[in-house]
Amino acid sequence: MTAQRVALVTGANQGIGYALVQELAHRMNPEDLVLLTGRNPERVTAAVDELNRGSGLQARVEGRVLDVTDGKAVAQLAATLASVDIVVSNAVGPLEPGKTPVEQVDEFVDVANLGAQYILRSFGPILRPGGRLIVVASSLGTLEHLPEHLWSTFDGASLEDIEKAVEEWRTAVHDGTATAQGWPEWINLPSKVAQVAAVRAVAADRRAADLATDTLVASVCPGLVDTRASRPWFEDFSQAKSPADAVQPIADLILADHVDPAQYGELVRDGEVVPWKPSTPR
Ligand SMILES: NC(=O)c1ccc[n+]([C@@H]2O[C@H](COP(=O)([O-])OP(=O)(O)OC[C@H]3O[C@@H](n4cnc5c(N)ncnc54)[C@H](OP(=O)(O)O)[C@@H]3O)[C@@H](O)[C@H]2O)c1
Repeated sequence: MTAQRVALVTGANQGIGYALVQELAHRMNPEDLVLLTGRNPERVTAAVDELNRGSGLQARVEGRVLDVTDGKAVAQLAATLASVDIVVSNAVGPLEPGKTPVEQVDEFVDVANLGAQYILRSFGPILRPGGRLIVVASSLGTLEHLPEHLWSTFDGASLEDIEKAVEEWRTAVHDGTATAQGWPEWINLPSKVAQVAAVRAVAADRRAADLATDTLVASVCPGLVDTRASRPWFEDFSQAKSPADAVQPIADLILADHVDPAQYGELVRDGEVVPWKPSTPR
């Protein structure tokens, strides 16, 4: 008999998170449990009901309310579950082209960065051997999207260093010095670099033990996907994937029988590692 596996996805009442819960529930086994989490109780219930009305689910899907900006709530859910097999930090806040970075940086950083950091800190220790700890980031999360003098802030940094750097960047956005310091105006860029760096930091600490048990810590890029988050930023969606298509390679990575050491700790897009640093000096 196969042991029951537990999977959890944050920010899963819509978009990529919702499609990933659906895909995991399609591919996992009837004794497994997939937790669809989100910040709003009504939206979580509606999403779970919609999934359960559909066909083809193998695993059980249940909802849990989890606001990822609430570090205590994240820690409490981890303590309640006690162990997990698959954790996907996916939540992202809204970002609108018409609003200034100052107006949006707090919610965006709280959800994307503090949220991912809380998940890594609380769920990393309860990941079962053979588990998967994944952060949905972006190909925008590589060092080439920052000016070179900022690379050392994130390259080889510890999780504590990255948390500190995120707060310093947030402060610089608020006090108007971010541009002079070289931070890109589009706050999605530093945020994604910090997410990928946070995963690299956690992975560096546990690499040997994880590879010995086929356990994976990695970030992933879904590509351009037609969702609420991307719609305000692009006009041409002819090349965009649907959420259902975008999650196929992510589910392949999560449910693979074995971990490829080359992918461990890295940013993975469609099964390929996206280099953290440019291969040729700039
Ligand atoms: N779409 C793309 O083209 C693309 C490309 C590269 C990377 N990504 C990444 O993929 C991930 C998912 O993005 P998406 O496009 O699917 O976004 P989305 O459709 O906007 O969905 C974002 C999800 O996050 C939830 N959320 C927001 N604040 C939260 C909080 N405090 N606690 C818990 N959940 C919260 C939202 O819940 P509500 O419904 O309650 O707001 C929603 O369920 C993100 O990390 C994004 O950066 C997306």
